[in-house]
Amino acid sequence: MTSPLSQITQPKISLSHVYKSFQGRKVLDDISLDIMPGESHIVIGLSGAGKSVLIKCILGLLKPDSGTILVNGENWLELSVDQRLKRMACIGMLFQGAALFDSMPVWENIAFVLLRQGMAKAEAVERAEEMLEWVGLPGIADKKPAELSGGMKKRVGLARAICHRPEIIFYDEPLAGLDPVMSDVITKLIKRLHERMHVTSLTIAHNMKLVDAFSDQVSMLYEGKIYQQLSAAELRLSTDPLLRQFIEGRAEGPIRFSSEATDKADLNADPSQSRKSQTIFNKERV
Ligand SMILES: Nc1ncnc2c1ncn2[C@@H]1O[C@H](COP(=O)(O)OP(=O)(O)OP(=O)(O)O)[C@@H](O)[C@H]1O
Ligand SMILES: [Mg+2]
Repeated sequence: MTSPLSQITQPKISLSHVYKSFQGRKVLDDISLDIMPGESHIVIGLSGAGKSVLIKCILGLLKPDSGTILVNGENWLELSVDQRLKRMACIGMLFQGAALFDSMPVWENIAFVLLRQGMAKAEAVERAEEMLEWVGLPGIADKKPAELSGGMKKRVGLARAICHRPEIIFYDEPLAGLDPVMSDVITKLIKRLHERMHVTSLTIAHNMKLVDAFSDQVSMLYEGKIYQQLSAAELRLSTDPLLRQFIEGRAEGPIRFSSEATDKADLNADPSQSRKSQTIFNKERV
């Protein structure tokens, strides 16, 4: 039998030696990571670093090539589909592109998990409307996702992620596509939520705004590995050249870009000398 102490100290999410490749390209290369109960963990990294793949592996949407992933001490890959669906009730997920169901009105999107758990329609609508108030979008419960702007969809996605009061929330780029004011609103909403509900969260972020706002721990994913794991304060003070380049958002520095990005990244080259540019320059002269 597990002692109360070991229950307290058991990580909520635990990854051990996780590998994932696509067409021979290693995206996750021996990732080990523990996220403790109540912790706000933020993963930062370049575009294409594997951040979304990491979340999808934890959720069981992608199968790692090897390694173990435990959520609440259980290996979800060993569960039946039915068992996994039941466990998903303790999870909230804000997808990178909001991923709302186009055919359903906003309220039904938000209350999706509650309806599946058997909540009556009237109560589900009421709960969805409460959530909409909370994210600053009252009165849109009957609209369809196609009628909403990108920022509104993001806020509906956030309402859906938290509507069933999950223990663990994953946020994939919660601020992407939002204007600066709305970014601030969403950051404060998430921060308040964490203070009130003591959820455990894993957030993917491109920049430092969320890190500064509410992270306990930050992991930088780089070339398939956890390059460093540290607190937000340690990250701010770090003199590591690679971390500094990322924090300061500079193109120059030790970060090696993936082959997809290097075409764009030869910053010392004279653009008028590249073959493609020469064609454009010549055309412009004509
Ligand atoms: N289902 C898939 N099949 C093949 N390759 C994939 C698949 N999913 C992701 N990849 C590849 O894995 C790499 C990491 O993708 P991922 O979406 O995790 O990046 P990311 O760090 O989330 O980037 P971004 O910040 O742009 O969202 C990319 O090269 C991507 O093309
Ligand atoms: Mg991503």
